[in-house]
Amino acid sequence: MDNSIMKAVVITKPGGADVLQLQPRAIPQPGANEVLIKVQAAGINRPDVLQRKGQYPAPANAPQDIPGLEVAGIIESCGNAVTRWQNGDAVCALLTGGGYAEYAVAQSSQCLPVPQGFSFAEAASLPETIFTVWHNVFRLGKLQPGKNFLVHGGSSGIGITAIQLARAFGAKAFATAGTDEKCEACISLGAGKCINYKIQDFEAELKSEGIDVILDMVGGNYIAKNIRLLREDGRLVFINTMKGSKPDPADLPDFGLVMRKRLTISGSTLRNRDTEFKQLLTEEILVHVWPKIESGAFKPVIFKEFPMREASMAHKLMESSDHIGKIVLTNNWWS
Ligand SMILES: NC(=O)c1ccc[n+]([C@@H]2O[C@H](COP(=O)([O-])OP(=O)(O)OC[C@H]3O[C@@H](n4cnc5c(N)ncnc54)[C@H](OP(=O)(O)O)[C@@H]3O)[C@@H](O)[C@H]2O)c1
Repeated sequence: MDNSIMKAVVITKPGGADVLQLQPRAIPQPGANEVLIKVQAAGINRPDVLQRKGQYPAPANAPQDIPGLEVAGIIESCGNAVTRWQNGDAVCALLTGGGYAEYAVAQSSQCLPVPQGFSFAEAASLPETIFTVWHNVFRLGKLQPGKNFLVHGGSSGIGITAIQLARAFGAKAFATAGTDEKCEACISLGAGKCINYKIQDFEAELKSEGIDVILDMVGGNYIAKNIRLLREDGRLVFINTMKGSKPDPADLPDFGLVMRKRLTISGSTLRNRDTEFKQLLTEEILVHVWPKIESGAFKPVIFKEFPMREASMAHKLMESSDHIGKIVLTNNWWS
């Protein structure tokens, strides 16, 4: 057996979930500031689905055809400039890609210790959503204790993270989701109210509360509603626009409100940010978020684990949107 070869889940061509196939690949080699991780589990995120469809290409410095933005596992080897980690350390890491594999390379500065008492699957479910929520809700959105926070897609991986972190940092959380069951899950995680947007209008339901920070992944006909719902000095932060990046022509946003309420509209994508920025986020998360996780103020929510070879089924589940929380692949390759 050739010990320079690993198994990987590969995007064989852009398309449906069945284009994900198991293939042999060379084990990647860590650069000076990188570590090689023997992957025990890899989290699935909606951007992986977009990448598979050919709608979200990997950055030039990432593996082009192996998806996977987050893993947990054991450090197998370290680049010669790495001092923070040693072989055998259990870590979870934010990647630019390549997580659906037996081995993945990560920047040493984007690794975090597996939280006390967490399984590898639970640890693998953390990095992408925690980095995204930390940056967009707390840095760009400047959420403060006692303020009102709304996340759309409250039962998504991002949503369950945003609700719990908002609560852990003393804010009041609200959410929207597409079924009553999803709404109940959001409430059980700490949302004060969750609006089933299929049967209720979130703007009407939350008007009396007033919202200080909104994390939006929907866009489209939510844009004008979000702007009306925000309180003075409110912040609207986009991380996607699943219903379109343009507002509903029948309900255009009133930018006079942006001026009169002194609103801030912002947004970001994480994957294409440089290593220095991700290192900064890692350091902040280690100081501010990891203690909340280890104190039990944040619980991982894993809807289903799949063995790596069933990655296509895992993607189908994500595209069905039937899940609540995270979907994770495990290194159980053959069962
Ligand atoms: N900008 C960034 O850096 C960044 C990073 C990570 C993720 N994201 C984005 O954040 C979002 C959540 O990611 P995730 O990995 O947590 O995904 P996820 O668990 O699959 O959640 C997506 C949720 O969006 C809702 N949804 C699906 N299609 C929709 C549509 N057409 N209109 C409105 N809602 C829809 C679904 O909930 P309902 O069934 O309740 O509608 C689903 O639970 C994704 O859009 C992803 O692209 C952005």
